[in-house]
Amino acid sequence: MRWYLCFVLLLGSTPAPALAQQCRLVIHSASAPSTSLPSTNSQSLNSPSTTSVSTSAAPTPTQTPFVPFAYGSTPVRGVNLGGWFVLEPWITPSIFNNTNNNAIIDEYTFGQLQDDQTALGVLQQHWDTWITENDFIAIAAAGLTHVRIPVGYWSVPTNTSVSPYIPGAWPYLQRAVGWARSHGLHTIIDLHGAPGSQNGYDNSGQRTNSPQWALNSTNVNATLAVIQVLASELGPNVDAIELLNEVAGFLGSAWDSAVRQYWQSGYAVVRQAADDNVVVVIGDAFEGVEHEYQIFSTLELSRSEDEHIQFACQDTLPTLAGFAPNNMWTVTGEWSTATTDCATWLNGRGVGARWDGSIGGGTTALGSCEGLTGDWTTFSNDYIAYLRKYWEVQVEVGEAVQGWIYWTWKTESADEWSYQKGLEGGWIPKDPTQRLYPGLCNGTSS
Ligand SMILES: *[C@@H]1O[C@H](CO)[C@@H](O)[C@H](O)[C@H]1NC(C)=O
Ligand SMILES: *[C@@H]1O[C@H](CO)[C@@H](O)[C@H](O)[C@H]1NC(C)=O
Ligand SMILES: *[C@@H]1O[C@H](CO)[C@@H](O)[C@H](O)[C@H]1NC(C)=O
Ligand SMILES: *[C@@H]1O[C@H](CO)[C@@H](O)[C@H](O)[C@H]1NC(C)=O
Ligand SMILES: *[C@@H]1O[C@H](CO)[C@@H](O)[C@H](O)[C@H]1NC(C)=O
Repeated sequence: MRWYLCFVLLLGSTPAPALAQQCRLVIHSASAPSTSLPSTNSQSLNSPSTTSVSTSAAPTPTQTPFVPFAYGSTPVRGVNLGGWFVLEPWITPSIFNNTNNNAIIDEYTFGQLQDDQTALGVLQQHWDTWITENDFIAIAAAGLTHVRIPVGYWSVPTNTSVSPYIPGAWPYLQRAVGWARSHGLHTIIDLHGAPGSQNGYDNSGQRTNSPQWALNSTNVNATLAVIQVLASELGPNVDAIELLNEVAGFLGSAWDSAVRQYWQSGYAVVRQAADDNVVVVIGDAFEGVEHEYQIFSTLELSRSEDEHIQFACQDTLPTLAGFAPNNMWTVTGEWSTATTDCATWLNGRGVGARWDGSIGGGTTALGSCEGLTGDWTTFSNDYIAYLRKYWEVQVEVGEAVQGWIYWTWKTESADEWSYQKGLEGGWIPKDPTQRLYPGLCNGTSS
């Protein structure tokens, strides 16, 4: 998760310059998902200790054969599995709180500033419980077609040191991919954290003012090695591999050129390592598009509810649609119904919110955060109605192109971000085609 709409562009199986109309996707048909345990072999490559993943709740594969997704003609309707394989303090504050160490602010420091075995124990418990097979069942039941799974490079076995990160999530990731497939969900594997950090945000694994990814070709080459393993190991069971989430293209020309080169190299790596049908996904590296979250500056937060809706219709929608004449499918890869930055630690562990001024630095408070985050049963009916409307307009925008992927399925305590809680509280419909406010972007209904 980060401050801007993450546009993801889906590249089909032809070389980038000539993608055009040839984009086509035929998933390896119907080889039944492997429901067996991940091999301990691959995992032991970089695990500090041998872990075993229990299948206590044995997957119960639905018998329907896995149907290839009709990209380009059917909208992607998906949800991110945030905070699972890349920790984010605002998604699971308790994991950070429980360390009793305020200097532990991201997954990097989580590994660095405590004993390896302690950290591994907490992480294993988290990997095993944060998202379970029941979540995949619920996601499918909510009419969604896709899961996007953020992954840190440190979880992918390449036989190079990832210290101080704690490796070991690989078998859990393999199991997740199997669950998705057995419940008919299409998977996008999203490399969310790269060596050196590609943006300096905690959601890259490392919160830092001086991200290094693009500045050292050792990092970029190591990232390609990670993509190679993801493509060859998971390719047969996933729809798509996203080469790298939210590269900070705005940091200067060195970053710009590194990421352009990386898209080319990464595309070639996937094509070589996996079947042609595996779609390659790239992001826009923050270049040339607007914010979609509309909550990470005072300017955006100051918009009224109607202005938020208007912005989505009049600004985001045409920009997205502008990609259409391009030769790539476009999907809004991250967005949410949150209308404030009130969720605890959304701006980083220990960092306050702009909304109520607790971020400091002379920020003028716009209001109280009370009733706007936390447990949805404290939300007012008006707020819930607005969350619904805001959900609908963004779905409308996403479906004006090739679809959308909501951020995020689950949070510990920020219900306004949670798809799961939205279903429970009714601001997200159990059938994603249902509308209470049809045609919001026609400008006739508000
Ligand atoms: C952290 O733990 C303290 C003490 O248990 C509690 O008061 C506080 O609300 C917790 N904060 C978060 C963000 O979980
Ligand atoms: C991993 O790297 C070490 C040291 O470079 C090497 O000895 C070992 O054979 C490698 N293992 C695999 C499985 O590639
Ligand atoms: C690049 O990164 C590698 C691995 O972290 C490090 O050994 C090397 O010194 C770095 N090179 C430069 C020029 O910073
Ligand atoms: C990274 O890979 C490129 C292309 O193979 C190569 O030219 C370059 O020397 C590599 N950089 C490092 C630091 O290994
Ligand atoms: C908005 O436009 C769509 C497509 O033209 C139409 O189906 C829908 O009824 C319109 N909605 C409103 C509220 O005008």
